[in-house]
Amino acid sequence: MKRIILLASVVFALGMPFSASVPSFSTAGPSQDAPAVPKVIPEVIILAQDGKLGKVKFNHANHATKNYNIAGTGPIDCVECHHTAQPASEAMKHPPLKTAWPADRTTTLTKELLANDPNSVGHIACRNCHAKAGTTPITIPAIPEIKASDSAAIVTLTNQLAFHRNCANCHADVLKNRKDIKGPTPQQCTKCHMK
Ligand code: HEC
Ligand code: HEC
Ligand code: HEC
Ligand code: HEC
Repeated sequence: MKRIILLASVVFALGMPFSASVPSFSTAGPSQDAPAVPKVIPEVIILAQDGKLGKVKFNHANHATKNYNIAGTGPIDCVECHHTAQPASEAMKHPPLKTAWPADRTTTLTKELLANDPNSVGHIACRNCHAKAGTTPITIPAIPEIKASDSAAIVTLTNQLAFHRNCANCHADVLKNRKDIKGPTPQQCTKCHMK
């Protein structure tokens, strides 16, 4: 995958709520219920608002603009997290990924794409697909399932599992080479979840 290095000097609309007054748009997906996607990347997102273990404060801007990639050489590409916001042909280079949304998309999510063409990045919130256990996602018919890499078991990627794999596994990878970083590892539950 071609690395897109974003300039860290990007100026964000600080403090702009990410549900700001962006006009709603319609997309050609199976559902019209997703809220409008904001045109600038959210600064800080509070995840797990309803989690028993406590909320997770996620500094989106740190991850998307500072040197937070595994090697520590640049920001994390948008599609490392927003993995369906790229053409299926690109996603397939990183198995088990294969799904694009919308399925026929030709664009890859970047800060510029978001600003210029929010229609093409609709439905990017993780929970639109990785719904909580026992609920139905709004974008796709069912919570995604993949085969476990080390057995024939099927893994259901609920919000809990998808986020833990994406977030905590990267921190564990980063720590293999750089001991001084602050990203909470899979076992450091309460460094992410805070009451
Ligand atoms: C790297 C940060 C991080 C670490 C470490 C972490 N979590 Fe999470 N956890 C999250 C995020 C983010 C979510 C999903 C939030 C959402 O759906 O909004 C989540 C979701 C959950 C949920 C589901 C909450 C719900 O109601 O949907 C549970 C339960 C949970 N975590 C427990 C744990 C436990 C137990 C540990 C330690 C073994 C742990 N977490 C470690 C970030 C983390
Ligand atoms: C480290 C992971 C990560 C990276 C890198 C990342 N994001 Fe995000 N982004 C998230 C998470 C998690 C959310 C919250 C999604 C949710 O609520 O389920 C989010 C939310 C968003 C939202 C709001 C979605 C909505 O519907 O409210 C936008 C827009 C967005 N990101 C754009 C971007 C862009 C553009 C980039 C690259 C410049 C980027 N993100 C990089 C993880 C990431
Ligand atoms: C449009 C639906 C959709 C959205 C939005 C989405 N996912 Fe996924 N996700 C899937 C599907 C489907 C799979 C199964 C693999 C595939 O088909 O690409 C998957 C797989 C995954 C995996 C497993 C990959 C692996 O290597 O084990 C993780 C982790 C993940 N998603 C995290 C996230 C996070 C974090 C977000 C938000 C930043 C997100 N997903 C947004 C549909 C989605
Ligand atoms: C591709 C790698 C990667 C992914 C994915 C990732 N992180 Fe991080 N994260 C980092 C790195 C690197 C740091 C530490 C940077 C440092 O200490 O200089 C970090 C730091 C953090 C911190 C400490 C505070 C801060 O902002 O520096 C928290 C909390 C955190 N991450 C939560 C999350 C959550 C929640 C997610 C998923 C939504 C996530 N991270 C996804 C690489 C990642």
